[in-house]
Amino acid sequence: METFCNNSGASISTWMEVELPTYSKLVKDLKVDVCIVGAGIAGLTCAYTLLKQGKSVVVLDRGATAGGQTARTSGHLTWILDDRYEHLISLFGLESAKLAAESHAAAIDYIEKIVKEEKIDCDFARVDGYLFVPPHDSKDILDKEREAINQIGSEVKEADRAPFSQTFDTGRCLLFPNQAEFHVLKYLKGLCKTITGMKGEIYTDTVVEEIENGTVKTHDGHNISAKSIIVATCSPINDRYYIHTKQSAYRTYIVAFKVKKGLIPPGLYWDTPDPYHYLRVQKKDDKYDWLLVGGEDHRTGQEDKNELKYSTLEKWARKRIPELEEVEFKWSGQVFEPVDSLAYIGQNPHDENVYIVTGDSGNGLTHGTIAGMLIPDLINKKSNPWEAVYKPSRKTLAAIKEFTEENLNTANQYLDWLTPGEKKTVEAMKPGEGILLREGLKKVAVFKDEKGKLHFNSARCPHLHGCVQWNSGEKSWDCPCHGSRFDGCGKAITGPAFGNLEKYESK
Ligand SMILES: Cc1cc2nc3c(=O)[nH]c(=O)nc-3n(C[C@H](O)[C@H](O)[C@H](O)COP(=O)(O)OP(=O)(O)OC[C@H]3O[C@@H](n4cnc5c(N)ncnc54)[C@H](O)[C@@H]3O)c2cc1C
Ligand code: FES
Repeated sequence: METFCNNSGASISTWMEVELPTYSKLVKDLKVDVCIVGAGIAGLTCAYTLLKQGKSVVVLDRGATAGGQTARTSGHLTWILDDRYEHLISLFGLESAKLAAESHAAAIDYIEKIVKEEKIDCDFARVDGYLFVPPHDSKDILDKEREAINQIGSEVKEADRAPFSQTFDTGRCLLFPNQAEFHVLKYLKGLCKTITGMKGEIYTDTVVEEIENGTVKTHDGHNISAKSIIVATCSPINDRYYIHTKQSAYRTYIVAFKVKKGLIPPGLYWDTPDPYHYLRVQKKDDKYDWLLVGGEDHRTGQEDKNELKYSTLEKWARKRIPELEEVEFKWSGQVFEPVDSLAYIGQNPHDENVYIVTGDSGNGLTHGTIAGMLIPDLINKKSNPWEAVYKPSRKTLAAIKEFTEENLNTANQYLDWLTPGEKKTVEAMKPGEGILLREGLKKVAVFKDEKGKLHFNSARCPHLHGCVQWNSGEKSWDCPCHGSRFDGCGKAITGPAFGNLEKYESK
């Protein structure tokens, strides 16, 4: 398959065959109302809304448009959040949990409205969502969730089983009407065309390195002066410590099976373990669909067992749906999990006209779309009922346990500097392989590219000096502390770091 949208790893998703419009690199200074850094669903939705309101807008991305985590999603559009509403009510109270549900439902409505108004052909459809428990697990979790959802006044029903398999009986489950699915990159293709049609500017291959006093500075030395700046880089590149102590990076995996059309009814399916499984059908052609099955999440850079993760997902799915045909795609991606479950969307703490959207978790498509509604209101000084719920500076005392556990985990990752390097020699490396070697007190990230050329970089992450680890599935160096990622040659892919790994010269 020819791929067009991929800045974020070596694996390829089912979405990536869509050809988005291409844009040039920024080669001049600019003055605009709003400068947006990051051309994923969050940045592009913000651009769309602001252009509709008559603002002048520029969007900058270090890679191609929509080549970040948006191209690696599973594309469930839902107000059923990763963490249960029972948990959200205990953390934030009833009113805020209600606002969270309403905002995600409104995000789906907003996508539907844009699809209709802009005539975007992206397979958008309303479908039911199903939440089920694994065999032999207690159904208490469903009963509690149903009660919590009744309390916030959203719609939930019960079904005898989740209908994704004819043979595997999930037993009683929760049914959520009126969720949705779409083809995310077809949607963003339409959004890009609409944005430039409204005279919005998009520049790709443009790395942003600094944001200060209303100016966005690029690696190539160009300045964009803007009244407002939105940092939509999935993990904010303008924040060094604060937000990164309140969220953690996780890697999650997807396997796409070929399946006869009609065998699996459209719908969004999830089970309840932690990590949970997520499933949905995606249209392939007239005869076949793909069934996307995801899960097996772990903290970024803390396991390199890609094939095991994929084969575990494959076994799990085949046991439940024996009719599945071959696996046609396998990919992984990264999500940022906030310690208190809800994204951080709004004014960057202590930074007057700078706004961030991060903490996407498994609901980043709707969180990104919420940003496209909320941040324009903040820029226009218009009150918005969701402002407090998503405020990046919020402190959720009830989430202190999660905060402590995640930050202890991060602190432990610095012990990687004390471990020995790998025994393998560079001569024994295969093309496409990376290893960490020890040289005195330092560690060196060595990558052999497909042509056999060796690339030596310091293993020290430029963010806060974690020791990067090799991700053999995505052929990237991933930092286990806060989720920065670099390609095999050391070029930055994902924040919080925006600079590359330092070249290593052997003494
Ligand atoms: C496997 C998987 C399954 C998922 N499933 C779902 C789901 O079913 N439902 C759901 O709602 N969410 C899901 N998500 C989450 C969702 O897909 C993401 O949260 C969302 O797409 C992120 O969008 P974004 O615009 O915030 O970030 P991205 O799409 O990552 O865009 C950020 C952009 O910023 C650019 N950038 C970064 N640094 C710089 C810099 N220094 N200068 C310039 N540009 C820069 C990047 O190149 C990138 O293009 C899933 C995620 C994964 C990985
Ligand atoms: S991402 Fe923070 S130290 Fe690497």
